[in-house]
Amino acid sequence: MYLSHNVSLITTHVLQEMKNKGEKIAVLTAYDYSMAKILDESNIDVILVGDSASNVMAGYKTTLPITLNEMIYHASSVVRAVSRAFVVVDLPFGTYQGNSKEALNSAIRIMKESGANAVKMEGGREIIESVERIVSAGIPVMGHLGLTPQSINKFGTYVVRAKDVDEAQKLREDALLLQEKGCFSIVFEKIPAQLASEVTASLKIPTIGIGAGSGCDGQVLVLHDMLGINTDFTPRFLRRYNNLYNIIKDSVHSYIRDVKDVTFPNEKEQY
Ligand code: KIV
Repeated sequence: MYLSHNVSLITTHVLQEMKNKGEKIAVLTAYDYSMAKILDESNIDVILVGDSASNVMAGYKTTLPITLNEMIYHASSVVRAVSRAFVVVDLPFGTYQGNSKEALNSAIRIMKESGANAVKMEGGREIIESVERIVSAGIPVMGHLGLTPQSINKFGTYVVRAKDVDEAQKLREDALLLQEKGCFSIVFEKIPAQLASEVTASLKIPTIGIGAGSGCDGQVLVLHDMLGINTDFTPRFLRRYNNLYNIIKDSVHSYIRDVKDVTFPNEKEQY
């Protein structure tokens, strides 16, 4: 029996307790009401309304184009479906970097207009003023280090980050700084498993990994990737739990056949 299964509402305190007791935290993304309802009713701990919506919902090549209004729309849809999970929303690119007042306004809009529980922000020391200002307004902040997709134009590729000594050291320092400034959790994306384990052990707050090995306090995957709706994204860290692409396609083929053959609707399916 897991500690979280006895809990009717997941909060930052519950997530901290899970780390303290060694229970892993399960996180998935969702961007709409119907999927969020299934996740919540399946007892997922945290739903991340990720800016990966830019890729999987809107079809953009990167996470950069999605806007604050679009994130609020996705987040509100998710929040309406959820009664137990903790809902975290990504602050989109361009709404928090460089100006901590603007960052606070963006975070406040997300919290007020969607009813979510927390925001997530990519980066370490570069955005620390914004993190501090948002935390001091009473808004829980989840950090995000390692591969930070909003900086893809700086990195140039989506390869594993923090493999060299200097970048690994910067990540250690940034993780401690984010903790010190009040983040309740940090995502580690695509970094060596050993580094993720070491930093996780050195932090009091829970870490959530994606491509960062089993030593993190929890794991996150993009829902459409793990369900196999998206079949053209195949990184090593991704475990596919189904092939919904084929299941949906087969169902659509059957529907088309039934319509063409006039076997749908039948007598019981009409008035
Ligand atoms: O946007 C997103 O879905 C994310 C996860 C991949 C961590 O940030």
